[in-house]
Amino acid sequence: MTNLCKKNKINNMQNRIPVTKLISGLYLFFLVKSPLMAQTVPMLGKASVKAVVAAMTLEEKAKLLVGAGRGLAAPVSTTTKDSVAKPQAPVGGMIGVTQDKVPGAAGNTAAIPRLGIPSMVLADGPAGLRINPIRKFDSTKTFYATAFPVGTLLASSWDVDLVKKVGLAIGSEVRDYGVDILLAPGINIHRNPLGGRNFEYYSEDPLIAGKMAAAIVNGIQANGIGTSIKHYVANNQETNRSSVNTIVSERALREIYLRGFEIAVKESSPWTVMTSYNILNGIYTAERADLVTAILRKEWGFKGFVMTDWFGGVDPIAQMKAGNDLIMPGSPSQTKEIINAVNSGMLNEKVLDQNVEHILNILLQSSAFKNYHFSNSPDLKKDAVISRMAASEGMVLLKNDGTALPLNKIKMVALFGNTSYDIIAGGTGSGDVNKAYTVSLLQGIKNAGYTLDQSLTNTYTAHIDSSKAKWPKVRRMFQAPPPIQEATITMEQIAGQADKADIAVITIGRNAGEGADRKLENDYYLSSAEKILIKNVSTAFHTKGKKVVVVLNIGGVIEIASWRDDADAILLAWQPGMEGGNAITDVLTGKVTPSGKLATTFPTDYKDVPSAKNFPGKEFLDQATGEGFRRKVPAEVTYEEGIYVGYRYYNTFKISPTYEFGYGLSYTTFSYSNFKLSATSFKDKITATVSITNKGKVAGKEIVQLYLNAPAKKMDKPALELKGFAKTRLLQPGETQTVSFEIKPRDLASFDTDNEQWIAEAGNYIVSVGASSQDIKQKNHFSLNKDLIVEKATKALTPQMTINEMKPAK
Ligand code: BGC
Repeated sequence: MTNLCKKNKINNMQNRIPVTKLISGLYLFFLVKSPLMAQTVPMLGKASVKAVVAAMTLEEKAKLLVGAGRGLAAPVSTTTKDSVAKPQAPVGGMIGVTQDKVPGAAGNTAAIPRLGIPSMVLADGPAGLRINPIRKFDSTKTFYATAFPVGTLLASSWDVDLVKKVGLAIGSEVRDYGVDILLAPGINIHRNPLGGRNFEYYSEDPLIAGKMAAAIVNGIQANGIGTSIKHYVANNQETNRSSVNTIVSERALREIYLRGFEIAVKESSPWTVMTSYNILNGIYTAERADLVTAILRKEWGFKGFVMTDWFGGVDPIAQMKAGNDLIMPGSPSQTKEIINAVNSGMLNEKVLDQNVEHILNILLQSSAFKNYHFSNSPDLKKDAVISRMAASEGMVLLKNDGTALPLNKIKMVALFGNTSYDIIAGGTGSGDVNKAYTVSLLQGIKNAGYTLDQSLTNTYTAHIDSSKAKWPKVRRMFQAPPPIQEATITMEQIAGQADKADIAVITIGRNAGEGADRKLENDYYLSSAEKILIKNVSTAFHTKGKKVVVVLNIGGVIEIASWRDDADAILLAWQPGMEGGNAITDVLTGKVTPSGKLATTFPTDYKDVPSAKNFPGKEFLDQATGEGFRRKVPAEVTYEEGIYVGYRYYNTFKISPTYEFGYGLSYTTFSYSNFKLSATSFKDKITATVSITNKGKVAGKEIVQLYLNAPAKKMDKPALELKGFAKTRLLQPGETQTVSFEIKPRDLASFDTDNEQWIAEAGNYIVSVGASSQDIKQKNHFSLNKDLIVEKATKALTPQMTINEMKPAK
C-alpha cells in the first residue's frame, strides 16, 4: 500500500469516527490494520460516484463545489515588426495547483486526495488555448499555443467539417499542455454590431451558432478533454455585463438566444456549460433553476456540470440551489457560506450531493483523473497549417469589380494601412491567445514573391513602433491596447506608389474584446484619416488605371456603404489568427478561391440595427456601488426587437443592408437547378434537394442556404428563417453536386409562450434555396394540414414586465 493510500484511509477514518473512539486502543488497531475498514474508503473510479459522495464530509463537498482560486494569464503578446512575439512574464495570480501545473490557466477545481479526486485545470478559449508562454520554473522552453481564426471567421466558412478539424487541433494542444477543460466555445448571438466580444461568437443566427459550436466541441472533446460552452445566456454586451438586467421575452429566448446552446448540447454533449454574468429577467442566470436545471438538464438532457463565469453572480446558496454546480474561480468565503447554509438549515445537503455528482461524473473522464502524461510539446507546426487553411476558408469576398482579384499580372504591391504591417490576429481579453508569432500581410505578400516598396514599409513601421512606445506600461487586466492612429501618408508618397506599383492594397483594422463594447465613432464608422487614405489612394491609382483592394482585418461589423465605391475589391479577412498574412495572400492570389459568406449582416447604417435604440440599455448611476475594478452600475436592457434579430429583421421589415446575411462572392459563379421536395404535404419530414453547378473558369465551393417561411396565423413569423445550409466540395468548372436538406417538425415550429410549446401552424410553408438571404434562387412549398404540437416545454424565464416587442404589420 502506498503512503498516499494509507494517508487517505486515515483521513477518511478521522472524518467518520466519533472523537471518543479515537482514544480507544482497539480503534487504533483497527485504523491501521483492518483490511475490512480499508476497503470502505470509496475511491473515485473504484467505488461508484454515489458511494464517493456519501463518503464526503460537508467541508469536502463545499470545497469541490467552489473553484480553488485562479491563475492569471500573461498579458497579450505583442507582435514585433519581425512578426515574433516577445515572451512576457506572467502577471499576478494566486499560486495554486493551476499556477504549478499550467501557469496562465484560468482556474482549477479543488483536489481531495483521500478520495482519489484530483484537481482539474480550466483554461480559455475560444481561438486557441490561453496559457502563459513562459514559466519561471522552466526556462528551457516556451509554451506558446496556436492562435486560430476567431469565431466570426470560422462561422463565415459555413463548414462544419472544417470547424471540427480546427476543434481537433485546438483540443490536441489543450491535452498536450495538461489542461482538462477549455473554456470555449462562445455561443452568444451577434445582437448588435457594437458587442465587444462578437469576434468570439459566431453569428446573428442560432442555427449557425449551434452547428458551429457542436462541430468545434465534437472536435475538441475527441481528444479526451472537455469544453465549456458559454455564456449561458443572453450575454450580448460588455457594458455593465455583471449588473445588467436583460429583459427579454421567453419566445425570443427560446427561438434566438437559447437555440444555439440547445443545438450544441444535443449534438455534441459538452462536458460543461458556463452561465453568464448578466441578470436575466430579474434573476442572475446562475441562480435560475429554470434555466440551469429545467431547460438545460431536463428538457435538453445535459449530462455535464454547470459553472459560473469568473466572479459571476452574487449568491452562492442560490447558485447551488439552481443547479449551478461549480462556482469559479472560487474563494474560501464562498465555501464557508455554503457550509454555514447547510448547518443553519437554509440549504439541503442533498443539493450539494447532486451538484458534486455532476462534477465527479465529468472528472472521471478527465486527463487529470486518468493521470495522462502530457507532453508539453504540441505539434504547433501542424496546427499552424490548419490555422492558415481555416482562415482562408472563412474570408468573405464582398466586392470584386472588374475582376480586381485574384491578383493578375501583378509584380509590385503598394501596401497601405497600419494593420497591413501589424495585423490583428484575434481580439483581446480572455479570448486572446499567447502565440509565438503573427504573420503580417506584409510578410504574407513577401512570402508569395511580390515586391514592395521599402520606403513605404519604413514609414509605416516607424509610425507603428513609435506609437507602441507610447503605450502605457501597465494595462488593466484584459484592457485592449489603444488603437494606433492611421499613419499620415502624403499625397506625394501615394502618387509615387501609384507610379511604381501595379495595385494598391489598403488594410483597415479593428480590435475589441472583453470588458468593453465598441464605439460608433472611429470604430463602427471609419475614422476620417482612414476615409481620406482610401479616397486618396483610390484617386491616385485609378488615375493610372490601377486597382485598389481594401482588406478588412476586423472582429465585428463596420460601416462600409459610405466608402465602398472607392474600392474595386473588398476582402473581409476578419481576425484570421497567427497565419493571417499568409491566409489573406492565399485568397488575394487565387491560390484559394474565396468561399466564405456572411453569418452576420452588414447594415447600411447603425440606425438600421433593430437593437440600436436598446443598446447597451439604461444605467442607474445613482445606485452604483464599489470603486475602480469593482464598480457596479445597475442597468437594464430590454430586447424590444424580440425575435427580429439580424436578417430576420432586415428581411421582414424590408430594410436593405449593405451586405446581407449569407452574402459572399467567389472567383467563379454557380447555378442552382432542379430544386425538389420529397412531398407536398408534411408528415414527419421532407427532404429537399438542389443541384449546384460551377459555371465559371476556376474551381470553387458554394454555400447553399435553405430558408423557410411559415404561416403567421396565431403568431407573427419572420419573412424567412435559415433551416439548413450546406457547403459543396471544391467543384471544378462545369462540375455539379446535388445537396440535400432534411426538414423536420421542429424546423416548422415557433415557440408559443401562452401554451409553453413548440407549435407548427397549419398552412402553406414556402421553402427557398439561395446564395444569400436576399439572393433566393429557387422556391418551393408544402402544406401542413393541421396544427402540430412538436414539443411541450416547462414554463420558464418569464419577464417581470411587459415588453413592447416589435411586430411586423399584418
Ligand atoms: C470571461 C470568460 C472566461 C473567464 C475565465 C471571464 O472574464 O467572461 O469567458 O472564460 O473569464 O478567464
